[in-house]
Amino acid sequence: MSVATAPRLPSPDVARLDPYQFMAVIGKRVIHPGGRHSSETLFRMAEFAPDHRVLDVGCGVATSAIQIAQRFGCRVNAVDISPVMLQRAEANVRAAGVGNRVTVERADILALAYPDAEFDRVLAEAVTMFVDRLRAAAELVRVCAPGGRVLATEFFWRKPPTPEAREIFLGQVCPGMQVDTLEAWVEIYQAAGLTDVQVESGPFEMMTPRGFLSDEGLMHCMAIMGRVMSRPAYLRKMAWLMPRIQQAVPYLGFIAVCGSKPSSASR
Ligand SMILES: C[S@@+](CC[C@H](N)C(=O)[O-])C[C@H]1O[C@@H](n2cnc3c(N)ncnc32)[C@H](O)[C@@H]1O
Repeated sequence: MSVATAPRLPSPDVARLDPYQFMAVIGKRVIHPGGRHSSETLFRMAEFAPDHRVLDVGCGVATSAIQIAQRFGCRVNAVDISPVMLQRAEANVRAAGVGNRVTVERADILALAYPDAEFDRVLAEAVTMFVDRLRAAAELVRVCAPGGRVLATEFFWRKPPTPEAREIFLGQVCPGMQVDTLEAWVEIYQAAGLTDVQVESGPFEMMTPRGFLSDEGLMHCMAIMGRVMSRPAYLRKMAWLMPRIQQAVPYLGFIAVCGSKPSSASR
């Protein structure tokens, strides 16, 4: 997938970007803790078919939405709340030539502007954890058709973090984000109405050199590094972010969750 170029943000705006928006701005395509590995896990769990209507909530730069359209032939609504993400998602969809199958729209995971039971598959990769999780999970299930599936990626604590690592990650890097245990996430999705909840987990490798390389590929990694080196505002942001993220890496992992909405559920 090529990545379309985007307008240049003023330096004070770069400093204010959250880590995920910053990753998008420097051209990172995969912006969730399990990287491409967790997306592939969700794709396998989803068992997409070409006639599936798919909703990708918090789509970021639309990397998964584009893949789902290209590889499985589905029609995808890719939605996000952030103008920075939406602008890049639109450009990437155009560059990938899938504008006829991927529609990019603004939507809030807490109040999706779709009727009940509108989609066969509903995906949210690393989104629920930023908001009221029970409400968000209920909203994902509401727009899923009975017999359909909801798929999500979340952070979880693989082992209890030190107080310092917890404060740095949740207090400084991602303020407001909630990380939970694997069991607690399963309970959240079950409480939202899903059955047959399956979970796979793995380490948080997105920001390790190995994970970065495997998600983005050598050429694209070099392009990202070149972009970062080209602007002091990017370098400053990276220099602030990386050591803080690395403190939390040993404690964090990702889970890929898949649950079914019962066929008997009301539409
Ligand atoms: C960690 S990024 C994940 C992006 C994308 N899903 C991916 O995996 O590459 C989180 C995304 O959730 C979006 N987001 C945060 N709060 C949201 C909300 N209330 N409704 C919709 N999207 C939201 C952010 O703008 C961001 O694009």
